Amino acid sequence: ATILVLHGPNLNMLGVREPEVYGHETLQDIDERLHAAASEQGHHLLHLQSNAEYELIDRLHEARAEGIDYLIINPAAFTHTSVALRDAVLASGIPFIEVHLSNVHGREPFRHHSYFSDIADGVICGLGSQGYDLALQAALRRIKSN
Ligand code: DQA
Repeated sequence: ATILVLHGPNLNMLGVREPEVYGHETLQDIDERLHAAASEQGHHLLHLQSNAEYELIDRLHEARAEGIDYLIINPAAFTHTSVALRDAVLASGIPFIEVHLSNVHGREPFRHHSYFSDIADGVICGLGSQGYDLALQAALRRIKSN
């Protein structure tokens, strides 16, 4: 199966950006680990980080045509703002898990609402980068049981 991991704005700054909130690992560390875990189990993993809303939207449109089986998405700040990205995920028709490194519910009130959680298979937040590993594990199990 093929899994696409999408990372929203500012996540390219991981490791540098507020490490007390987001940890010391870089996005490359995380992507490489996910890639290795998927390959080990005979799956493909693709990833994209973008600071531009339209690039994430365009990638989702392509994903539909490409036959991507599952999405893992950290929409970052777009979580709380983007109806357009939500609509693109719905248009893709691809099931997904929403991931956040930080516990958004323990932070500012504007981070408590997500435009994605009600349409996600599941949501993981507050577990740092391990959230991505757990999401991948859950995604692979769901793909197998289909
Ligand atoms: C985030 C949480 C968002 O509120 C924030 O805007 C981010 C990262 C997280 O992974 O904890 O950029 O999605």
